[in-house]
Amino acid sequence: MLKIVVCVSGGGTNLQAILDAVEQGRITNGEIIAVISNNPRAKALERAAARGIPGIVVSPKSYPDREAFNEAFTAKVCGLAPDLVVLAGFLVRIPPQMVAEFSDRIVNIHPSLIPSFCGVGYYGLKVHEKVLERGVKVTGATVHFVNEGMDEGPIIAQKAVYVEEGDTPEVLQRRVMEQAEWVLLPKAIDDIANGRIAVVDDKVVSR
Ligand code: GAR
Repeated sequence: MLKIVVCVSGGGTNLQAILDAVEQGRITNGEIIAVISNNPRAKALERAAARGIPGIVVSPKSYPDREAFNEAFTAKVCGLAPDLVVLAGFLVRIPPQMVAEFSDRIVNIHPSLIPSFCGVGYYGLKVHEKVLERGVKVTGATVHFVNEGMDEGPIIAQKAVYVEEGDTPEVLQRRVMEQAEWVLLPKAIDDIANGRIAVVDDKVVSR
């Protein structure tokens, strides 16, 4: 049974999709052992509590500087000894020491088709604002392993979603979540938990 820690920052709809998938048997061979949030007010923590899953807050605001936070955050995750760490709307950069410790064992969901609309400054609603500003007709979501770069690790899965006339960032965000994120992330976790994918030469392959 794969032990999974989910990191969150806000609403937690992706966490909810994972919790539902576990409950409904769409993720097998995996259990969520804890949810970690940088934000004590994250609704995601309520979603975890509703399923009896421990919620842990590690906020950068509680530490004198980023290095102290990085060490505390990494120590907290390592103490839980997970097999997989899932970033489900976690808007804090993962400490380099943690990326090294969990090579090919951290996955992230990003609300665009990487390598478009990703990297520094592209997170949450901002991604959809930029998509609409640029006027692209197709966007989507990507699940990928996390490496030391920003949104640069090996891509596990992607799904395209059409932009529609009259979309606001909020409307587009919701469509990308419904059609792509909430489908892709649970499926990727199930694939990992059941040994169906591997990283070879920095690319994800089926096995
Ligand atoms: C999601 O759209 C997720 O893809 C995005 O934040 C949102 C969190 O929503 N993540 C990023 O932008 C990471 N760069 P949620 O809290 O409802 O799951």
